[in-house]
Amino acid sequence: MKIAFFDTKPYDKPGFEKSIENNDITIKFFEAKLCEDTVQLAEGYDVVCIFVNDIVNKEVIDKLYEYGVKLVALRCAGYNNVDVKKCYKKIHVVHVPAYSPYAVAEHSMGLLLTLNRRIHKAYIRTKDFNFSLNGFTGFDLHGKTVGIIGTGKIGCVFGDICRGFGMRTVAYDSFPKENSGFEYLTLDELYEQSDIISLHCPLTAETKHMIDEKAIAKMKKGVVLINTSRGGLIDTESLIKGIKERKIGAAGLDVYEEEGNIFFNDFSGHIMDDDTLARLISMPNIIVTGHQAFLTQEALNNIAQTTIDNIISFFSNDGVCENELCYHCGQVSHCQHIRDKKCF
Ligand code: NAI
Repeated sequence: MKIAFFDTKPYDKPGFEKSIENNDITIKFFEAKLCEDTVQLAEGYDVVCIFVNDIVNKEVIDKLYEYGVKLVALRCAGYNNVDVKKCYKKIHVVHVPAYSPYAVAEHSMGLLLTLNRRIHKAYIRTKDFNFSLNGFTGFDLHGKTVGIIGTGKIGCVFGDICRGFGMRTVAYDSFPKENSGFEYLTLDELYEQSDIISLHCPLTAETKHMIDEKAIAKMKKGVVLINTSRGGLIDTESLIKGIKERKIGAAGLDVYEEEGNIFFNDFSGHIMDDDTLARLISMPNIIVTGHQAFLTQEALNNIAQTTIDNIISFFSNDGVCENELCYHCGQVSHCQHIRDKKCF
């Protein structure tokens, strides 16, 4: 079996090379992202393995189908970069639903602590032997209300971490969980009551730009916003306005709406073309990390193993794979279709 692996980074290879030991699988690692311009690289392969910023739109799907590629194996949880409905009857799509919710939840807390206690600023000051504390006053997390939007695997772990800090955890989810320890509220109530808001729901047509000017207007003054989910959940211009008006106290962003051609690459020494990102980064109370929340050793090993298991399951089990996406509703976790047989 031949896998074309797109958007390869050095940290991807060891886990995948280990996972295919003793299997009849070969992987060709391409640095290019999969998109309309690069899809011809997939000719002659059975599987394309992709990450968060590869693009699988109608044009790419049609080409992959023409080349006889059978499977798109996402080595990530989110799949907003794949037009799943257009894949129906053409190509199957599997993903890695969970690899380490701890990695992402812990990074979310890292962003919150760093912003609140100005650790990013303190690091630079003490490097210069400047031990002044001016401007570093934070607030106790203990007793504060954190609003978690999306209480799936990551949201639940983040809730546990916050409860460990003595915080009140309120939540909004279109499918609330019983006995989860969360106090479920409406979105408006969550906006009104939360000192910190952390986003952990997927990017869909419904959630795109859910944090816009109207939502921000309902939030508490000084609210801290954390987004380790997907950039498109936030309307960036509204965020910048909220920061400039001092409505938003701070924001920790691991994802950015237009990250596609920027994140995962080294642009030091270049002039940043994206003025909006440059503006965000210039603000003292915003921290941007480059979609690194997933990046732990445990997560990388689990990603590689589950991706290879998905591929083996698909080809050896008559196309049945429990991590295949549903082409009708475009999701897995709440799919109403039977999951023990092929979608098509
Ligand atoms: P999950 O599928 O376990 O949980 C998602 C939750 O969001 C579910 O409970 C679902 O009911 C809820 N949801 C769906 N639509 C909603 C809506 N309209 N409003 C409110 N809640 C809604 O997913 P998991 O593993 O917790 O991941 C969450 C997100 O984190 C992923 O969609 C992905 O975009 C992002 N992610 C980011 C990573 C990073 O490195 N920054 C790494 C892994 C995931």
